[in-house]
Amino acid sequence: MRAVTVVPLQLGTVDLTELPEPAPSDGPVLVKTRVIGVCGTDIEIIAGDYGWAPPGDDRLALGHESLGEVVQAPDGSGFSPGDLVVGIVRRPDPEPCVNCAVGQWDMCRNGNYTEWGIKQHHGYARERYRITPDFLVKVAPALGDLGVLLEPTTVVAKAWDHISRIGARAQWAPKTVLVTGAGPIGLLAALLGVQRGLDVHVLDQVSSGLKPDLVAALGATYHHGAIADTGCVPDVVLECTGVGQLVFDAMDAMAPNGVLCLTGVSSRGRALGIDAGELNRHMVLENDVVFGSVNANRSHYEAGAEALAKADLGWLGRLISRRVPLEGWKDAYQRQPDDVKVVLEFSC
Ligand code: BGC
Repeated sequence: MRAVTVVPLQLGTVDLTELPEPAPSDGPVLVKTRVIGVCGTDIEIIAGDYGWAPPGDDRLALGHESLGEVVQAPDGSGFSPGDLVVGIVRRPDPEPCVNCAVGQWDMCRNGNYTEWGIKQHHGYARERYRITPDFLVKVAPALGDLGVLLEPTTVVAKAWDHISRIGARAQWAPKTVLVTGAGPIGLLAALLGVQRGLDVHVLDQVSSGLKPDLVAALGATYHHGAIADTGCVPDVVLECTGVGQLVFDAMDAMAPNGVLCLTGVSSRGRALGIDAGELNRHMVLENDVVFGSVNANRSHYEAGAEALAKADLGWLGRLISRRVPLEGWKDAYQRQPDDVKVVLEFSC
């Protein structure tokens, strides 16, 4: 079967190659891949900067954002042929650490987790895969291929879950949210903020086009330029760019008791001059919290699936700004200026 694969850590190796049919030992549920979402992590892996092949293999099949259709499932598995499904990205470490032991593999402490399409296991960018039911999640049939947005939604569902848990340390009635970055993660973070009834502001660099339109269509407020110019004093910030300057500007802008969640993975080696004393003073005197958030566990997939099921389908459809058929797969991984979410179509 065909799969988009790379030799990890080697630039120029991405290709559409043949892989053996999925091994029965991978699980009893057979899924046919319909679409794959492309994200920054895939681009990083293709650039030779990240990724691990499965033990004994040179190549890694890409794809951790997926939407597939069940082809075969044993009775009692909870799945039936035709179900639209998304496979979970991370698998717990085998030890397991205290978090993996209770299904919180997103909080793995020893780093020995694996991730489909990223770390030591083939991903979903292949025509078929087998999986165990405990790592498969159903999406509402009405979503159709838009179910491919579930994985990025789980990342922000986890972020919001942890923001609420941190907020619950004291009386907590957040009103204003600032999201930095209007890529798919930022826009989905904004969607979940609007669904919580909050006053959501989104900041990005562009001044016109699809991103500002999508923010307005959510009923949120779009800004471009610097955080200081937005006039916004957020109770919650979701930083979705990984741009160092924005991280520090966001810390400065927060309301007392503010919570800043960092979701963007930045490149190394970009030093900034900061007044560490002022920053520390500000955070202490205002009880601020800054925390990082990565990946998602099953509860976040379920929360994400619920959030997508109640979202406007037209709005979600506009997030997918480009669809590329498998035959033209290379184009899916070439970034274009107006891209929001690009998907690669396996079978539709
Ligand atoms: C994925 C996460 C993953 C992370 C680090 C992200 O793109 O969405 O599931 O944990 O990359 O590998």
